[in-house]
Parts: sequence; structure tokens; C-alpha cells
Amino acid sequence: MSFRKDFLWGAATASFQIEGAWNEDGKSPSIWDVFCEEPGRIEDGSDGKIACDHYHHYKEDVKLMAELGLKAYRFSIAWPRVIPDGCGAVNEKGLEFYSNLVDELLKYNITPFVTLYHWDLPYVLQSKGGWLNPEISDWFEEYTRAVVAKFGDRVKNYITFNEPSVFLGCGHISASHAPGFKYGTRELLLAGHNVHVAHGKAVRAIRELAPDAKVGITLATMPRIPNGDMDAATAYDIYFSCHKPYFIWSDSYWADPIVFGKYPEDLVNECKDIFPKVTDEDMKLISQKIDFIGENIYQGRYEDGYNRPRGTPHTEIGWDTYDRALEWGVKHFTKRFGLPIYITENGISCHDWESLDGKVHDPNRIDFLHRYLRGLKAAAEDGCDVRGYFQWSFMDNFEWAKGYNPRFGMVFCDYNTLKRIPKDSAYWYKEVIETNGENL
Ligand code: BGC
Repeated sequence: MSFRKDFLWGAATASFQIEGAWNEDGKSPSIWDVFCEEPGRIEDGSDGKIACDHYHHYKEDVKLMAELGLKAYRFSIAWPRVIPDGCGAVNEKGLEFYSNLVDELLKYNITPFVTLYHWDLPYVLQSKGGWLNPEISDWFEEYTRAVVAKFGDRVKNYITFNEPSVFLGCGHISASHAPGFKYGTRELLLAGHNVHVAHGKAVRAIRELAPDAKVGITLATMPRIPNGDMDAATAYDIYFSCHKPYFIWSDSYWADPIVFGKYPEDLVNECKDIFPKVTDEDMKLISQKIDFIGENIYQGRYEDGYNRPRGTPHTEIGWDTYDRALEWGVKHFTKRFGLPIYITENGISCHDWESLDGKVHDPNRIDFLHRYLRGLKAAAEDGCDVRGYFQWSFMDNFEWAKGYNPRFGMVFCDYNTLKRIPKDSAYWYKEVIETNGENL
């Protein structure tokens, strides 16, 4: 079998990267609003105050999604819009924006996938310790309840966290992302455990408030790709190994506790003296059944790690390309976790601009997607249960510490006029959707 008949072809975005309206309708600042204010943090000195102004353009954007044939749309909710104080009073106006967005999507038969946390923590909670404070799992549960109580009747797919490795790794080790800290291993283990418990409490809340909804988590992953001397089994073992000090980047650190109910043994042994206290109750919460796992895949790894032959193609942002990354990401995850999989992000930044003919020509993106999607098709043909694919991103947006220079969108955004222009690749993707990938 190739792609399932009901395969969900979609695109993804995240609140801070597209919405703008940073202080409207009762929203409080997020850690990213504050981080952008610090000189030198963002390469082009920009911020998310306006971004693509999706907050005011959402109807136009959803209409474009429908015109481009998208069947699903993954977006995230800004916690500081919904509960400006982080915990406590719910801001109905903030919820209203997302409620209208959901209705608009459903009007066009586009399935909404909601990510609860794509990195924009209310700044007030950072002042209380952020992910280091064990109370954060209760705050996250409260926020989840507010969201699901509002949308549970209409939104049937939830992702608790987007890439916990990245928001802890870049935000709390390298300090390149908000909140810009450099934690030691003990603190990281504690923050990681708090994220796990928060995930568990959110799953519990979703099950209670929307029993028919599906819930999962999205991990950032760089699959090991067998080649040369490395066979699939060796690639698998290396891929899922989990050790100090890089454990935060390991998929088994994130998914093993959820799927198997325990942290990777090697890591626990290596960190015996500094591992946070983990109770049986914590593990029960963390390991509640999830319905799917999301993989965000941009790159892979060969056995020779980072050393690629001279001239290896790389993208505008400087990332090497790996045609078989989706294929092996899905195969390895299927072997280990046996869960349905969504590719919740995949895409490429290119040097896109509006040409004299008023169009945006992006042949490299078409070729990149073609190659990666062929790999995904191979995994589906191999029998892996892959249910959908979300291109990152629906439109060009604020690329975190890199500001607005990288352009990952299917749709070009002119940040001065806010004009949207679907790129050539968006029309190519439309055909992929129409043929359910048979043309790949
Ligand atoms: C994140 C996105 C980001 C993309 C490209 C992922 O790590 O989830 O927010 O824009 O990669 O860097």
C-alpha cells in the first residue's frame, strides 16, 4: 500500500512565528517577546510584534489553505493569550480568536491539529522558575483544560508539546532561544521531568474533556540513515542511544517514558546522583496511552556524523539535505514505538523572493520535497502506519533567533505589505495532494 486513502496532507505553523498582535485583546508577553527585546539575541534584530499578522489575516490565510488543497492544518495556541497570568483567569477574547480560526478551518473541511505548547511560555511563569518549577505541570494542565473545554467539541487532534528537546536544548543549554539560560545536567533533568509530567497531566485532561480526541507529542528528530558500513540495526541502536550530556536530544529520553513507562536505563545509571525524584504516580501519568507520535524531520545523520562530502547540497539556513530522512525516521520509530505516525513538520528554507513576473519561483523546494516525500512513500509502502504529513511551514515566518531571513513557507509573505503569494512549490504540493502522492 502507498499512502492511505484518508492520508492527511497539511501544513504547520506556530503562534509566535505568525500571529503578531503581541499585546492585543489581553495577551501578556511571552518569553519570546521579552527575549527579542534583549540586544543581540535575534540575528536581524526583529521580533514577533507583527510577524505575518495572521491574527488579523486568518480568514484570508484559511481561504488560501483551502485553495491550495490542504486537508489539515497544524497550529499552536499562545498560552499567554489564553491565560495571561499563566494560571488563573481565562481570557475569553484570546480563546475567541482560536475558536474563530477553528470554525473557519472547519468551514473548508480542513482538519485542525492543535499544538498546546510551541515555546511561547507566559513570561510571568518564567519569573516563577519556568520549566524548573514542578508546579508548572499544574499550570499547564489548567491551560490545557481551558483550551479543550472550549474546542473539544470541534478539535479532535491535540499535540501536547512541540520539540521539547529544542526548547530545553536551545533555550536552556546553548541559550540561543528564549529564555536564554545555560543549565547544568541536574537542572535539565529536572526541567525534562517537569515537561514529562506536564505532558501526562495534559493527556489526562484531554481524555476527560474530549474522550473521542486523539492526542500525541511531537519530537524533533534526526534519523540515522543506514548506508555504507552501517546496517539498519546498527543505525537504530545509535539513533536511540541515550547518554549524558546529550540526552536531551535523544528521542528515547522523550518517548521511552511515555511509551514504555521508564527513562532510558543507561541515562538513569549515569545520572544516579542527580536524577530528580520520580514517583510511581509520575510514571503512571507520563505513560498514559497516546494515539500517535509526531516527528519533525529536516535532517538525518549518516554513520560519519557531520562530515559530509564536499559539495553536499545544503539549504539556505545551512542544513544538509538527506533524501531518506523521512523514510528512516518513520521506519525506526515504527520499529521502536509501534504507534501511528504523523510527520508534523518537514520543509526547507530557500532564497525566495518575488520575481519580476510577480511569482515566487522555488525549484529547490520542489526538488527537496519530492525527494523527501518519496522516502515517506517508501516507508508507507513498507507497511509503516503513517497517517499524515505537515509541511513546514504554511507561510514564511519568524524563524526564532534567525529572525525573518530564512523563508520556510509554501506561501511567501511580504513583511512590509503583508501580501501573501503562493510559491510555485505550493501548486506542486497541491498536485501531490490531489493525487494522494501517486505522482511522486
Ligand atoms: C520548529 C519550528 C521551526 C522549524 C525550522 C522546528 O524546530 O518546530 O518552529 O521554525 O523547526 O527551524
